[in-house]
Amino acid sequence: MSFTVAIDGPAASGKGTISRAIAQHFGFAHLDTGLLYRAVGKKTLTHGDSPEIATKLAQDLTPHDLNADDLRTAEVAQAASRIAVIPAVRTALVEFQKTFAKQPGGAVLDGRDIGTVICPDADVKLFVTASAQVRARRRFAELSTKDASLTPEQVLADIKLRDARDADRDVAPMIAATDAHEIDTSNMKIAEAIAAVIAIIEAAKSS
Ligand code: C5P
Repeated sequence: MSFTVAIDGPAASGKGTISRAIAQHFGFAHLDTGLLYRAVGKKTLTHGDSPEIATKLAQDLTPHDLNADDLRTAEVAQAASRIAVIPAVRTALVEFQKTFAKQPGGAVLDGRDIGTVICPDADVKLFVTASAQVRARRRFAELSTKDASLTPEQVLADIKLRDARDADRDVAPMIAATDAHEIDTSNMKIAEAIAAVIAIIEAAKSS
């Protein structure tokens, strides 16, 4: 029997950490759907980012591409959000995500449009947020160990730019599904957020 958890929210909101913890706790498979967009975005840095090229790259993507090095850089994040506005790129990535969501044993997918477009019938939907300042602080702590030239101001500006692009695009914008549980992690410890989400899923499983 399948059980699907959809977790959406902006960059560095804590949704990735929560998703991994949930997957481990319940024995669900986990797909970080941002990696699909990052993998395509990274390829556009060498192949070009016209809609035609980006669409072909998305159509040719293989699961192996999700393990590529350097998908977590700030440059790749920006490239990902640029190609994520192209409708044909999104269409090319839909089937893989929908199939993943239906696997027996349960699945958790995190991204921007999981509860609204990819899994509108998910058993549990969450929208995880935090203030832009808190998210920038978290992302700076993560990225500055690999890139000493980054500044906190630059990370905040990058996050705001990506938020705006993701929320304002015409197709599959980042938005909470009307039936999503909203969790603001700005003033929460990550263990608290995980415990809250486990309680929501337990309740849904036993109802
Ligand atoms: O989640 P992550 O920050 O890795 O995602 C990188 C970018 O990929 C996002 O800023 C967004 O533009 C895009 N994305 C998307 N839809 C998803 C997941 C990611 O548009 N479901």
